[in-house]
Amino acid sequence: MKKILITGALGQIGSELVLKLREEYGKDNVIATDIRETDSPVVTEGIFELLNVMDYEKMLELAKKYEVDTIMHLAALLSATAEAKPLLAWNLNMGGLVNALEVARECNLQFFTPSSIGAFGPSTPKDQTPQDTIQRPTTMYGVNKVAGELLCDYYYEKFGVDTRGVRFPGLISYVAPPGGGTTDYAVEIYYEAWKNGRYTSYIAEGTYMDMMYMPDALQAIVDLMEADPTKLKHRNAFNVTAMSFEPEQIAASIKKVIPGFEMDYHVDPVRQTIANSWPNSIDATAAKEEWGFHATYDLDKMTEDMLEKLKVKLG
Ligand code: SER
Repeated sequence: MKKILITGALGQIGSELVLKLREEYGKDNVIATDIRETDSPVVTEGIFELLNVMDYEKMLELAKKYEVDTIMHLAALLSATAEAKPLLAWNLNMGGLVNALEVARECNLQFFTPSSIGAFGPSTPKDQTPQDTIQRPTTMYGVNKVAGELLCDYYYEKFGVDTRGVRFPGLISYVAPPGGGTTDYAVEIYYEAWKNGRYTSYIAEGTYMDMMYMPDALQAIVDLMEADPTKLKHRNAFNVTAMSFEPEQIAASIKKVIPGFEMDYHVDPVRQTIANSWPNSIDATAAKEEWGFHATYDLDKMTEDMLEKLKVKLG
């Protein structure tokens, strides 16, 4: 991994991954792309190109122009948006992925794309969900993610493309807001804690989901991409996780820093149904054994850092 093209660079993961990669691999070796332009440092402080991932020719042209050796495909709709616009999600999530895989095949690139806990479904074992298990998701996002995992395996087996990926849990960060995910409550809650001292959760009490703080997620991507390929047995869908909690627990963690913080509930049936179909906790043993995955933030450590950073950000 020496020169990297990134799609969806202005999304939740991209906004931070681009900056980390520029630092580690050099400014001129990271080509950030997105369908829109903003005043983010992703656009203003390094190489940036407009790219709609549905445009295969342009993606190929950019890969050739910059002579990249790696593509990281991040552009996708998240679970709740995908549920609201299932056909668009199918077209964009699968169309974008197959275009990125084709560019990787054509140019012989190393390839990364994230899968998700959304790739599991109601018939998946809920606690300590194993690496290899039943995957019959009931959301369009989940259907996309399972198909994506299989497609990435296929490109490796059939064409020898060096595809790699993880199943991310809910990602929490103070930099770019997530858009349209089910786990987003665990980001919103920190903003609302400073702004209003209270939060109304759209996820019900007692709903456990896996989560991870963004610095751990970014490190996991780099570690997996740098891992010795001969050690990888799974390649495209490594379970990774840092913590699992229910809304009450994140509220309790915030209370340790902001004692007056309060939370109540107004459950959104769509996102609650999605959350109910996902695991309570997942087993990341394969990622630990095959490429040394580890997370450094637990719930309280993340809460302290989030609230500290947001205090500055929100003034
Ligand atoms: N955070 C994502 C979502 O909620 C899960 O991959 O959609």
